[in-house]
Amino acid sequence: FQLKEYNTFGISAQAKEFVAVSNTTELASVLESNRDIFVLGGGSNMLLTKDIEKLVVHINFKGIEIVKDDENFVWVKAQAGENWHEFVLYCIEHNFGGIENLSLIPGNVGTTPIQNIGAYGVEIKDTFDNCTAIEIASQELKSFDKTTCNFGYRESVFKNELKNQYIITDVTFKLTKKNHKINTSYGAIDAELEKENITNPTLKQVSDAVIAIRQSKLPNPKELGNSGSFFKNPIILKTDYDKIKQNHPEIPHYVVSETQVKVPAGWLIEQAGFKGKRFGDAGIHKNQALVLVNYGNATGQEILAVSKDIQQTIFEKFGIHIEAEVNVI
Ligand code: EPU
Repeated sequence: FQLKEYNTFGISAQAKEFVAVSNTTELASVLESNRDIFVLGGGSNMLLTKDIEKLVVHINFKGIEIVKDDENFVWVKAQAGENWHEFVLYCIEHNFGGIENLSLIPGNVGTTPIQNIGAYGVEIKDTFDNCTAIEIASQELKSFDKTTCNFGYRESVFKNELKNQYIITDVTFKLTKKNHKINTSYGAIDAELEKENITNPTLKQVSDAVIAIRQSKLPNPKELGNSGSFFKNPIILKTDYDKIKQNHPEIPHYVVSETQVKVPAGWLIEQAGFKGKRFGDAGIHKNQALVLVNYGNATGQEILAVSKDIQQTIFEKFGIHIEAEVNVI
């Protein structure tokens, strides 16, 4: 079974077998007879470097429902296979606030908690209420709240202690019905709104601004295969940052704590001379160096080789190790 259409990098790889499931009963029955499986959601955060010699289970659960509301908030549950951006648009149409800054992020709802997706000053953990997940070994359903998910920067319990043990089946978000907390301070949202002379933006206007910024910088996976940011932004010691700053006064940073700062990996990659470079069909995007791209027929191995070359060059130049954010299979 060819997986090219099932991963946003557009990498050719074969699955031994493939099954799509649309509810927990179907999923449980597949798991009962197959423990050694490969779970596939939106395929937007992985780099396939080889064939999958396993049964690939594609989570295709659909549905959005309002499970509860009060005067100020609404709890909206989305099934794991719902497309994330379509879910964001649904919330904006219904005037539910909190995830508008996360517009246009590729992937499905069910994978958003795994790496606590984030953009423009907002992370999924800010509106996450709970999720349901099925334990692969026992086929029992379990509910996870924000605390048990143990969210961090592009991290959660599902990437760490519980890796490959659970499959998320639905996620519930607690969103605002009024007094929306509009957050436009990060990135270029303010500037984008100013261009349009907008001062008190609606959820839709914030979303539109985010979409405009993302479209100007990030390649559309339908046109150019990619997985968004390939690396995490490294967190380094302030003392190391100060040393780098002596030679590179313009190095951007975000404060993490009194002793640590986060440095944009995109900046490091650009400084290392990789931005816009192409090696066969593998490349580094011309507008955002943090995004590796597949010009058509790159293999996962070729993209992986480029990523290792970038890591090594940055280590030699800055003494910083940058870690992949994408799941390398
Ligand atoms: N920069 C460069 N050169 C580049 C790219 C960036 O110098 O080629 C500099 C920019 O000038 C800016 C800084 O790096 O000063 C940050 O750039 P940007 O605002 O584009 O954000 P980022 O840190 O590169 C993160 C997330 C993105 C998210 C954006 C916006 C990570 C790993 N990435 O990127 O998330 O959309 O912020 O909030 O945290 C993703 O996870 O797949 C993703 C796209």
